Amino acid sequence: MENIIRENLSINIKVIDLLNEQIGRESRASSVYLAMASWCDQNGYDFSAAFFYNQSNEEREHMLKIFKYINDNGGIAYSPEIPKVNHEYESILDIYKTALQEEIGISKEIHKIFLTCRKENDVASELFLQWFVNEQQEEEQKMRHAVKIYELHGEDVENHYLLDKRMSRS
Ligand SMILES: [Fe+2]
Repeated sequence: MENIIRENLSINIKVIDLLNEQIGRESRASSVYLAMASWCDQNGYDFSAAFFYNQSNEEREHMLKIFKYINDNGGIAYSPEIPKVNHEYESILDIYKTALQEEIGISKEIHKIFLTCRKENDVASELFLQWFVNEQQEEEQKMRHAVKIYELHGEDVENHYLLDKRMSRS
């Protein structure tokens, strides 16, 4: 049954499989950011906590966007497993550095899927992914900005809480 459905697709099967893997990554990012929000809450970084709660929601929205795209186009989207994520961080700078690495990793994966669309002549999925390419650039910029702020002004721990307020503008 699954194969019959999959034979009548307008989007490429390989691309669907890669998009299903991407669902897992977006879901994982959502969990990672939720853990970071918790750390920020525990350590009094209220604005960064709000920032990461929001990021966590955004990642879930990305996940659902891909999920719907697959199902709307005749594929089968698979609900991802709930991943186990790290809750231990050394500092607020460690949090933002880790978040930046997460985003860079996700961007690379999005680019890989984008290039597969191109190779497989899956024009619809390539256009669909264009939004994600732009979104990833924005996400990376946000995290890079936060890392820069804490690297430049974060030697004094007292400063950390003042800098936290700047995250409300991100
Ligand atoms: Fe995302």
